Amino acid sequence: MSTQNRVRKAVFPAAGLGTRFLPATKAMPKEMLPVVDKPAIQYVVQEAVSAGLTDLLMITGRSKRSLEDHFDRVPSLEARLQEKGDSTKLKAVQQATSLGDIHYIRQGDPKGLGHAVLCSRQHVGDEPFAVLLGDDIIDANESLLADMIAVQEKTGGTVVALMEVAPEEISAYGCAAVEAIPGEDYVKITGLVEKPEAKDAPSNLAIIGRYVLHPAVYDVLENTEPGRGHEIQLTDALQTLASRPEGEEGAGVYAVIFKGRRYDTGDKLSYLKAVIQMAAERKDLGPDLVPWLQEYAKSAPTQWDDK
Ligand code: UTP
Repeated sequence: MSTQNRVRKAVFPAAGLGTRFLPATKAMPKEMLPVVDKPAIQYVVQEAVSAGLTDLLMITGRSKRSLEDHFDRVPSLEARLQEKGDSTKLKAVQQATSLGDIHYIRQGDPKGLGHAVLCSRQHVGDEPFAVLLGDDIIDANESLLADMIAVQEKTGGTVVALMEVAPEEISAYGCAAVEAIPGEDYVKITGLVEKPEAKDAPSNLAIIGRYVLHPAVYDVLENTEPGRGHEIQLTDALQTLASRPEGEEGAGVYAVIFKGRRYDTGDKLSYLKAVIQMAAERKDLGPDLVPWLQEYAKSAPTQWDDK
């Protein structure tokens, strides 16, 4: 049994190689790519803090400096902005450093998301914890993480977030088979499979980058062999927990089906859409950007050669 039942800790795996975004991610983690004017990871950390999580742990890899620097103070920059009386920029700079204490652990070798989560074991200990992927942005008006935490606290199990995707897109995600729970707005997971071919997918429900995990996942991850892509897959460990009989340690994997807005910034096209959409909706940028986009769309290319 877990000694601490309230979810307090958030883990942010940010040690992936980001190969879909090369060469931009050669010397910079993809989580640092700017989405309008903040790196993607800042939206994600803010989401965790808004959901009441106070203990923040980032799993970093090579080129971790920029991540640490971003959440650290730069007194000389702050002093300069203060001297200039630029309170707007000063506030923007201070926003990233006032989110709370962030701890860092290095994942020496990026052996997969499951392995990155395992690296958090000593810090998290024997309590349920949230995992937020730094390249997945959930609209700030949504209460997804808080809803997931509530389901974890109610069930005592593990909770994932699912989203419906087009059948041809499921092979890019972990996929879940679910059954309804009468009277509840969350569902039970009966099976999970990482990146299945569309024809083998048990549903069109994709796992998105938010988890609230029972600490029993750590023992399972220790014993999880590399799976798809020769990586230790978190999905495989969750499948093990989902197949445990009721009453066994860590049994019960549930899901909140998310219908709101989510942006995947680890993929080039989704990243571009995220930047455009978020900028278009901002008061300081939208009034100029939207008419420009409308005008541009009239003359934008409609054919592309293979150059
Ligand atoms: P992805 O599979 O999206 O990350 O992992 P990736 O491997 O960096 O991406 P591509 O496919 O090569 O472009 C999901 C999350 O897990 C983290 C990533 O940083 C991302 O937030 N991750 C992945 C790790 O922290 N360590 C790993 O070994 C793998």
